[in-house]
Amino acid sequence: MLFLEKIRCEYLENPIGIGENKPRFNWIIESDQTKVEQVSYQLQVSNDVNFIKILWDTEVVSSSNSTHVVYEGPELQSCTQYFYRVKIWDNKGEESAWSEIQIFETAMMNNQEWKGIFISADDKNAPNSSKGKHLRHEFNLKGNIIFARIYATALGIYELHLNGKRVGESLLTPGWTNYKKRLQYQTYDVTEMIKEGRNAIGAILGCGWYKGELGWNGKRNTYGKHTALLFQMLVRYEDGTEELIVSNEEWKSAEGPIVYSELYHGEIYDARFEQQGWSEPNFYENEWKKVYPVKQDFSIIMPQDGVPVKKQESIKPIELIITPKGETVIDFGQNIAGWVKFKVKGKSGDRVLLKHAEVLDQEGNFYTANLRRAKATIEYTLKGGAEEVFEPHFTFQGFRYVQIVEYPGTIDLENIEAIVIHSNMEQTGDFKCSYPLINQLAKNILWGLKGNFVDLPTDCPQRDERLGWTGDAQVFMRTACFLMDTTNFFKKWLRDLKSEQFEDGAVPYVIPDILSGNFACGAKEIEKQAGATGWGDAAVICPWTIYECYGDKRILEEQYESMKAWINYIKENAQEGLIWNKGFHFGDWVALDAKEGSYFGATPNELTATAFYAYSTEIMIKVAKILKQEEDEGYFTQLHQSILEAFKKEFYTSSGSLTARTQTGHILALMFNLVSDEDRTQTVDSLIQLIKENQGHLTTGFLGTPYICKVLSENGRLKEAYDLLLKDDYPSWLYQVTKGATTIWEHWDGIKLDGTMWSEDMNSFNHYAYGAIGEWIYTVIGGLDTDSDKPGYKHSIIKPQPGGGLTYAELNYTSLYGQIAIKWEMKGRRMNVGVIIPHNTTADVILINANNEIIETHVVGSGKYNFEYDYFID
Ligand code: BGC
Repeated sequence: MLFLEKIRCEYLENPIGIGENKPRFNWIIESDQTKVEQVSYQLQVSNDVNFIKILWDTEVVSSSNSTHVVYEGPELQSCTQYFYRVKIWDNKGEESAWSEIQIFETAMMNNQEWKGIFISADDKNAPNSSKGKHLRHEFNLKGNIIFARIYATALGIYELHLNGKRVGESLLTPGWTNYKKRLQYQTYDVTEMIKEGRNAIGAILGCGWYKGELGWNGKRNTYGKHTALLFQMLVRYEDGTEELIVSNEEWKSAEGPIVYSELYHGEIYDARFEQQGWSEPNFYENEWKKVYPVKQDFSIIMPQDGVPVKKQESIKPIELIITPKGETVIDFGQNIAGWVKFKVKGKSGDRVLLKHAEVLDQEGNFYTANLRRAKATIEYTLKGGAEEVFEPHFTFQGFRYVQIVEYPGTIDLENIEAIVIHSNMEQTGDFKCSYPLINQLAKNILWGLKGNFVDLPTDCPQRDERLGWTGDAQVFMRTACFLMDTTNFFKKWLRDLKSEQFEDGAVPYVIPDILSGNFACGAKEIEKQAGATGWGDAAVICPWTIYECYGDKRILEEQYESMKAWINYIKENAQEGLIWNKGFHFGDWVALDAKEGSYFGATPNELTATAFYAYSTEIMIKVAKILKQEEDEGYFTQLHQSILEAFKKEFYTSSGSLTARTQTGHILALMFNLVSDEDRTQTVDSLIQLIKENQGHLTTGFLGTPYICKVLSENGRLKEAYDLLLKDDYPSWLYQVTKGATTIWEHWDGIKLDGTMWSEDMNSFNHYAYGAIGEWIYTVIGGLDTDSDKPGYKHSIIKPQPGGGLTYAELNYTSLYGQIAIKWEMKGRRMNVGVIIPHNTTADVILINANNEIIETHVVGSGKYNFEYDYFID
């Protein structure tokens, strides 16, 4: 039986509102046979569900492509549903039936189709207000409705209600992009929510990233002073006629119960100001005011290209604590990003006051100093009477603990839950092994992702920062791509990166860039907070990682100019175009070899910067080749060679040792192949020596840590890599686990041995950067790696490398081709390795013995395999 499953358009199941004019299709092949390969496929796109008006028929195409098959049919029309189906033939002579019929629906393909205007209800004289605004409009519909879509966006954050019900599940819409150049709109199917006759639409607007406080200086109104809504509803009737309901000056506005709402600070909500029925028809709106139009450049508006944030899970409290100071605190047992949902009953005017925190202090008291200026407070005033349920609207917090400062009556934990929010990505990776502390670390890494992939990759979700730091995203990227399907999430962020890049190619430290021209950030040029090594390299490393993990060539095409511009920027700033020894760099940020009181690690900037320059250039050789840019390929090959030579001259002594006696210096030289073959052993040995000098511990920061185990295991030092990972005394990954961490800390000693805090200033307990060790856990312990010649796991490299006394490990990954599974288990002196390889892919299964020698390599096609062999050699 051959059949197709999980058929996707632009990685999405039956998406609506897509903006791609050449969308791509993927499918997963299911069969009861083994070694199955697709030999041909046929794909049809139709205007009707019965496939009578077929728009595009590929006919039978001889190809093994089952991912990223590009739509090449007639131009797609706006706001139109298309039906598609696929069938395939395999190498076993089987032919599948047509797949189940799938749908994709386009957004507006042209911005001139917007007939609505931006409308605001903000007080023009109160640009610093953080009040929520309500807007409403009633309208009549006639006839039988067969299709209704809302297209909406806002300056600020919006929430829509239609006939008394919330529209869609997306949160914090329209999401954060470079609002100067890119503003996403969302599409909602509301066919079932409207009716013939009278209807009403309501919108609530909050400040969000657009005009709320952003960054650590308390600045606000980054993009503008007033919130505004843009709305358009397209209604199609059975008789073929259409109608548009749009935002215009006829809409009415009022202030409502959201007295104050800010991303960092929380929300003040007074339920006594709620107006029953405000988003339902026939509401008495005479006291509502007029809205006013707001000018806005429509050319920046585009269909959502990222992934909407949604509620993902709910967590029950595990304990109610009374702290030594007498504070009433709920422990949810997990550090998350999201908010608290509560039910409460009381008199009108009673209050609920909640504060959020990630940790308790040494004495067990509620600790909020590390949130810096973020107030992270919810204040709810009851209307009184029946039970009231509350969740905030335009804010979220990073927390594990919640202090209940005020609450009417007795607290019943049954009435309180924590809601986890993040971008709605499918979890693809899972890892377990026989070492409980590693399992907890793996869990913490996953939670680091959940807490920080809230619309964009942020450094942290709790303090007055929550910014798209490029360096953090770059180091964590590969780990993230294992854990979740991050394709569309990064597509959006990389488009923002590209749009924020300076003309000379410099990449801002944070994307969206709110720092340039705004903030002092340790950098010299305040106007241009851009161009730091390891941070700006996100422009090259991130698209490349997407390509490696998903085989998505389009992201390379889209980002190619941006990638090239970054290399060019470095070249222009490097001495003779080769040694990058200028400008401001974060370097091996917060490394432990930093001077007392400094965040900057000891590895010299020029070494770190030249190393990353070489690495990014090396990636560009491959990218240029894939994109068939021969001239560029030659250029990057030469440039890379020259950087290597310059690096050797500048940073290696004539006797073959690295001039910088730091772990990170050695790690980068090995990782990026900056060391000549004859100096390699010496470099590895001196890295080992440096680790020894530190009593077997690492001293690395943001840039060295991700690769330390990798360079050890790749250079014949698997044992030392395991030793490092399994350390549980300070500093190590497991130290924080033994201290009860449920996410990854920003600092190795966020909470010090004596229980005191590293600092108040920079001490996040949910910073995914050091979680980049995930990559090593999955690729080496779990044993699954990609092959960039056949990316996206079209061909997998399966090479579990046991060690550290672990007796088993188990890894599951849902690739674009289907599930890959690896499980190894030691049984006495025997080793058992079980693998599952998805159809239409192949893998090298490499088996190693206790001496870390390869004993067998099997090249396999799809199927389940089991290998048993003598692991220990006498
Ligand atoms: C952030 C980091 C970031 C760094 C830049 C910090 O404030 O939290 O994660 O990369 O600044 O050095």
